[in-house]
Amino acid sequence: MTVIIKTHDQIEKMRIAGRLAADVLEMIGEHVKIGVTTEELNTICHDYIVNVQKAIPAPLNYHGFPKSICTSVNHVICHGIPTEKKTLKKGDIINVDITVIKDGFHGDTSKMFIMDKASPAAERICRVSHECLLRGIELVKPGARLGDIGAVIQQHAEAQHFSVVREYCGHGIGEGFHEEPQVLHYGKTGTGHILQEGMIFTIEPMINAGKRHTKLLPDGWTVHTKDRKNSAQWEHTILVTKDGYEVLTKRSDETF
Ligand code: MF3
Ligand code: CO
Ligand code: CO
Repeated sequence: MTVIIKTHDQIEKMRIAGRLAADVLEMIGEHVKIGVTTEELNTICHDYIVNVQKAIPAPLNYHGFPKSICTSVNHVICHGIPTEKKTLKKGDIINVDITVIKDGFHGDTSKMFIMDKASPAAERICRVSHECLLRGIELVKPGARLGDIGAVIQQHAEAQHFSVVREYCGHGIGEGFHEEPQVLHYGKTGTGHILQEGMIFTIEPMINAGKRHTKLLPDGWTVHTKDRKNSAQWEHTILVTKDGYEVLTKRSDETF
């Protein structure tokens, strides 16, 4: 396994890419409302990334993915394809996942949006999956191990009687969209790759309200829960610093 340790110059470029990805999520917030289609969200993000940020939407044509962002509603876990057929309804929860390429480097981040009249259960899975991400991030520092992060996420999710998706995980990121190592959202403390200053990777736990099992739709991308219960996910791109972490995709409402 080859984990790339980023140089100072590469880290500077990752800071810029990360900030741009975060800016897209901030920009799109006011548009994620009942009545909008996921196709419209895709178009707004695509145009902003290309025309305002002068950046590239990484998902577009990535291994054949047909759109510029991922939009995953309710029981869709990840990689939902924006479409004019999917209109947001009252009570829906949606993950919007943004990856931009700027000056050759990737920034990758996602968050949940909750529509009006969502059930307490829907709000709870959004809150707990966010807590899982934050608990994982807080452990990031040189000498910590990837298994520590997976374990704290799994423990928090399962203590709430939720389950952790196994088939998809976080990843190293840089000039590549998905680099080594794989960042599992379950595991055992004290195991796995040892974190080093200059590593950059995502943490992006997918937490299911019911069982952990997944199903891939015939479109080859859309992943949903087998039991059709809700799933929620949040993602940040994280740099391992000398004594901790820096969240490269931090939004202005966040205080890391
Ligand atoms: N952004 C996703 C991730 O967090 C990957 C999406 S790949 C795509 O890793 F092709 F579906 F866009
Ligand atoms: Co990612
Ligand atoms: Co992502």
